[in-house]
Amino acid sequence: MGVYVLGIAGASGAPYARRVLEQMLVTGHDVKAVITDAGRKVLDVEDDLKLSGDTKADTPLILEWARAGEFSGNFELYHHKDVASPIASGSFPVDGMVVVPCSGGTLGRIAHGISNGLLERAADVCLKERRRLVLVSREMPLSLIHLRNMTAVTEAGAIVLPASPGFYHRPTRINDLIDMVAGRIIASLGIESSIMKPWLGPEPSSYLTNE
Ligand SMILES: Cc1cc2nc3c(=O)[nH]c(=O)nc-3n(C[C@H](O)[C@H](O)[C@H](O)COP(=O)(O)O)c2cc1C
Repeated sequence: MGVYVLGIAGASGAPYARRVLEQMLVTGHDVKAVITDAGRKVLDVEDDLKLSGDTKADTPLILEWARAGEFSGNFELYHHKDVASPIASGSFPVDGMVVVPCSGGTLGRIAHGISNGLLERAADVCLKERRRLVLVSREMPLSLIHLRNMTAVTEAGAIVLPASPGFYHRPTRINDLIDMVAGRIIASLGIESSIMKPWLGPEPSSYLTNE
C-alpha cells in the first residue's frame, strides 16, 4: 500500500479533509499529516475539532474526527514547524501529497518555493522529486495573483483541484457534495475508492424526446 502526505491549510473545507483522510486510511494507505496554524483554526470553526498543536495529544482526536472505524493504514502527525521530519526530505519515499483545503497563502508560497513550514517544504519536495501533488484550493472570487500562482504550480507539475462540486449527480445531502470533491481528490492521487462515482450520462428520458 502507498504512503501519502496530507496537508491541511487554513482555507474553508474541513469536511473534505476529513473524508479524504478517512478514505486514505480505510483503503489501507499510510498517511503522514501536517496542519498549519490557520488549518487548526479552520478545523475548529468548521468541524469543532480542537487541536492544541501537541502532535501526540492531537493524533487520537484526529483519528476520532475521521470516523473511519477500523483503519488498516497507519497515521502519523507532524508539527508544522518540524522541518526535520522525514517528509521534509526527498530521500523519504512517498507516493504523493494532497493539500486539502489549500489556502491562497499556502498555494502562493508553494508556487514560489517559499517553504516557511513543513507543509510547504513537503510540497516543494514533491515538486522537485516529480511526485504527484494535488492542491485543493478554495477561494472566491480569484484575483490575478491567485490565477498566476495556480498557473505557476501547474507548470511545475502540481494539479490544482478547486473545491467546486458539480450538481449533475443530483446531490440531495451535504455529504453528496463533499463526496463529489473528495472522490475527485482521491482519484487524482491514484487511489481506488468506492466514493469516486464516475459519470455515466443522464437517463436518456431526461433529455431525449420522441419528436
Ligand atoms: C474560518 C476561516 C476560513 C477561511 N477560509 C479561507 C479560504 O477559503 N481560502 C483562503 O485562501 N483563506 C481562507 N482563510 C484565511 C486563511 O486562513 C489565512 O490567509 C491564513 O493566513 C492562511 O494560512 P496558511 O496558508 O498558513 O494555512 C480562512 C480563515 C478562517 C479563520
